[in-house]
Amino acid sequence: TKRVFSGIQPTGILHLGNYLGAIESWVKLQDKYNMVLYSIVDLHSLTVPQDPTALRQSIFDMTAALLACGINPEKSILFQQSQVSEHTQLSWILTCMVRLPRLQHLHQWKAKAAQQKHDGMMGLLTYPVLQAADVLSYKSTHIPVGEDQVQHMELVQDLAQGFNKKYGHFFPVPQSILSMCVLVFYPAPMKKVKSLRDPSAKMSKSDPDKLATVRITDSPEEIVNKFRKAVTDFTSEVTYDPGSRGGVSNLVAIHAAVTGLSVEEVVHGSVGIDTAHYKQIVADAVIEKFAPIKSEIEKLKMDKDYLEKILRTGSAKAKELAYPVIQEVKKLVGIL
Ligand code: TYM
Repeated sequence: TKRVFSGIQPTGILHLGNYLGAIESWVKLQDKYNMVLYSIVDLHSLTVPQDPTALRQSIFDMTAALLACGINPEKSILFQQSQVSEHTQLSWILTCMVRLPRLQHLHQWKAKAAQQKHDGMMGLLTYPVLQAADVLSYKSTHIPVGEDQVQHMELVQDLAQGFNKKYGHFFPVPQSILSMCVLVFYPAPMKKVKSLRDPSAKMSKSDPDKLATVRITDSPEEIVNKFRKAVTDFTSEVTYDPGSRGGVSNLVAIHAAVTGLSVEEVVHGSVGIDTAHYKQIVADAVIEKFAPIKSEIEKLKMDKDYLEKILRTGSAKAKELAYPVIQEVKKLVGIL
């Protein structure tokens, strides 16, 4: 059977990169597969310092945002990672099967370790193993993620294969589903939403430059301002060429993704428009796309009891699925 699994950290507000890179395809996959699980990975958020009150609130906020984007608890299991203790149990077993250099070679660790001058927390290093445990706790087969998670997914595949080799075939080897890549493939792939301030970097929740990231809850004025200040180049024409014109191409990719048009159609429709004017057009398309989601978030945020109920029900369902898998794993490794 095909099982879809994916996760998102609750900290920081959902942004355009998360939405186009992952959440939009999460919504579509609910109708394609029978077993679909989406996790708010609160334990992953603990890899960097968090304020307890803010963290508690952000779990609710992310729940509201995902529901507003179209995650439907009737069609998928939406749950909080920490409430299913099986994840951390499997994580330990997998941690004992992975060598230190394998984790030290992952891009995200290298980037983060460099920032922290080799004085980072252990959780930052072992976090991809917990990610593997998230996926494998449900014997998941399909994982919709953005391009930045592909290397982590390769580790998940290696761990599944390593486990199977040692203990006999047990885990399916999960496949990544890259939505952004499929959406914007012509004529060159654009694999992630880039920062509006630096087209060589991905758009990220933690970017210190507030203008780099478009949040789903930004006001129309903020969105217009962020696009107006987006870094482009000295050519005023709108073209799609991620290799040499990263800034404009990022705008075209965003425009295509939020309108559902192809890159070719977007470029064709923008003949004679200069980039300054084009930025306004893209901003308007993003505002239009986010407006209904934004008002739904506001509505849902007022009903904390409902959000709590969704998470509680989801976590119970997830636990029911993960428990027998981890029992089997324990038998296979010889601790049960
Ligand atoms: P997180 O919370 O950083 O991001 C959630 C999802 O959004 C995608 N994404 C992007 N896609 C395109 N362009 C961008 N600029 C961009 N920024 C973020 C991410 O690829 C991701 O799909 N470790 C994971 C969460 C996780 C997980 C898992 C994912 C934990 N366990 C198991 C899949 C399966 C993370 O920190 O994602």
